[in-house]
Amino acid sequence: MRYRSHVLFCTGNKCLGNGGEELKLEAQEYLNSLGPAQEILVTKCGCLDQCEYGPMVLVYPEGYWFSGMNSGSVRDLINQLRSDKPLSLRNLYYRMEQKKG
Ligand code: FES
Repeated sequence: MRYRSHVLFCTGNKCLGNGGEELKLEAQEYLNSLGPAQEILVTKCGCLDQCEYGPMVLVYPEGYWFSGMNSGSVRDLINQLRSDKPLSLRNLYYRMEQKKG
């Protein structure tokens, strides 16, 4: 499987307490409900050192870091990733600079 997007859900202690693990599970279940080949990889990650702003969700290769995510914003994010439209910046916290190659 070749993925075009990787969505990482922080499950460090603070984000875990704010629902980071449940959001990851919801995202995976939602993707599964859409069919077998969605080209979006959903995984957990450790603390990102932005604990006061979680649950944090990262999207690569775009390099977007989203804060304060919830079920609705995660579902919107997945729908946007599937549609090839620009991502909503509603919960954008930070954008990682992309190296020019
Ligand atoms: S626990 Fe998520 S940023 Fe630290």
